[in-house]
Amino acid sequence: MWSLIRKSRTMTCSLLTLSLPLFYNSISTIYRPARSLRNPLVTTSSVFLAPISSSAIRAFCSKSSEARGMADRAVLSIHNPDSISYLNQREAAEIDEILMGPLGFSVDQLMELAGLSVATSIAEVYKPGEYGRVLTICGPGNNGGDGLVAARHLYQFGYKPSICYPKRTNKPLYNGLVTQLESLSVPFLSVEDLPSDLSKDFDILVDAIFGFSFHGAPRPPFDDLLQRLVCLHGSDQTRQKAPVIVSVDIPSGWHVEEGDVGGEGIKPDMLVSLTAPKLCAKKFSGPHHFLGGRFVPPFIADKYKLRLPPYSGTAMCVRIGKPPQVDISALRENYISPEFLEEQVEADPIDQFRKWFDDAVAAGLREPNAMALSTAGMDGKPSSRIVLLKGVDKDGFVWYTNYESRKAHELTENPRASLLFYWDGLNRQVRVEGSVQKVSDEESDHYFHSRPRGSQIGAIVSKQSAVVPGRDYLYQQYKELVEKYSDGSLIPKPKHWGGYRLKPEYFEFWLGQQSRLHDRLRYSPQDVDGKKVWRIERLAP
Ligand SMILES: Cc1cc2nc3c(=O)[nH]c(=O)nc-3n(C[C@H](O)[C@H](O)[C@H](O)COP(=O)(O)O)c2cc1C
Repeated sequence: MWSLIRKSRTMTCSLLTLSLPLFYNSISTIYRPARSLRNPLVTTSSVFLAPISSSAIRAFCSKSSEARGMADRAVLSIHNPDSISYLNQREAAEIDEILMGPLGFSVDQLMELAGLSVATSIAEVYKPGEYGRVLTICGPGNNGGDGLVAARHLYQFGYKPSICYPKRTNKPLYNGLVTQLESLSVPFLSVEDLPSDLSKDFDILVDAIFGFSFHGAPRPPFDDLLQRLVCLHGSDQTRQKAPVIVSVDIPSGWHVEEGDVGGEGIKPDMLVSLTAPKLCAKKFSGPHHFLGGRFVPPFIADKYKLRLPPYSGTAMCVRIGKPPQVDISALRENYISPEFLEEQVEADPIDQFRKWFDDAVAAGLREPNAMALSTAGMDGKPSSRIVLLKGVDKDGFVWYTNYESRKAHELTENPRASLLFYWDGLNRQVRVEGSVQKVSDEESDHYFHSRPRGSQIGAIVSKQSAVVPGRDYLYQQYKELVEKYSDGSLIPKPKHWGGYRLKPEYFEFWLGQQSRLHDRLRYSPQDVDGKKVWRIERLAP
């Protein structure tokens, strides 16, 4: 069935739509999960990942790649929570049954993906350096299983998880999850072992107690545990950092569709909705709402007319809901990197640069050749912009641009510049300073003709840094030139376009380290017996 779906989606979808009630009926009798597993999906919307046309955003995209389009939609989803589908309890249960029936998923698989999504969502917001101590409170059902899986992944991500799992489910899946955690020496705490004030010992409290199929009033010991979570909130405003509560799919104790009916339930800081948010998530007012469970096949999305934001790259979670209100002053990373010592570096900074650049490429960073170029004209006022490095060797660093742009005017007045590379993910920065010259016309010509024809025409059309009356003005000229060169003839490089080369006179390699004790190695030229050598010195961070 699954391979059929993959081969012919349109045909198979209609086929499945016809055949599923049959499947569903037979599954209901032969295979009915003890509790509906994953999440209910109530759909009030009608398009799955429909292209959201926002001329304001799309028009300014320099790339029209699928990835960029997905990012646009993700941004729009974040800013417009109403554009996302919410599920009621019945739909959530139905979807689980379809996933685990005709679509061939097992409970174990869905639980693994759900737990991983929860762990990655937590890691997106709460870094282990600051929020390392995690208590996962697990209920007896699937939500508890998600919590156990999440705890295992959090352990691997560098957190120190503990588990409170007072009503264990004696099934191979759950016993296996417990064994896996025990083998990692993750402590299991009884309710009696827990400190009366959870805020002293933990930074994160994961609420994996009840899922979407729960109804009624919580029974002991979960009523007491939930009360402890409720009390945490707002009780001690004087404390510097209260632990955060992360709810898995449903804030436990909430009504799945109506939310915190009496207003006396827990108030999580983060909600990780699984598969699709349930109706109660509309009432979630915490700062971090994520969606996880990246396994919704197109068939289900189509059938339930789900509108969900796309996941980017290989992410297992995506932020949804209101954009977070961040305290900019509190944003900080604690860098952890291998040591970067004078003895290890290359004697020649260009070789060192190549090494780091190759690492950035190997790490799969996006546009590792993007660099900030700073210039200043006669007035001494500096200006910066990103350009792309297009070559580097012993002669220097090359980029291409418009010779009548602002940067070009400034370089004519003052042919000196600085380049800055920042490779996030590797905690690395490289600064390069030096004098600048135009590259030869042949070199520019050669590079110009290696570019896609659309880019060549774009370079002719754009009088870079000049005021234009509107986007149409540019597009009209572009269309005329596309037409003119539609025969495939050579597009001549315009005189106003070409390359610059910065000849480096100064380098600085920076590597982020813990507690702000970063590594900074400076290379500056020195004359030794008439020979130019690079002196390497360590600077205070
Ligand atoms: C990722 C990225 C890459 C860019 N690459 C170049 C480039 O290689 N050459 C260029 O002239 N402008 C490039 N730009 C645009 C420049 O940042 C800038 O807007 C333009 O060069 C005009 O700058 P100016 O008015 O200071 O001369 C790039 C922008 C971004 C964000």
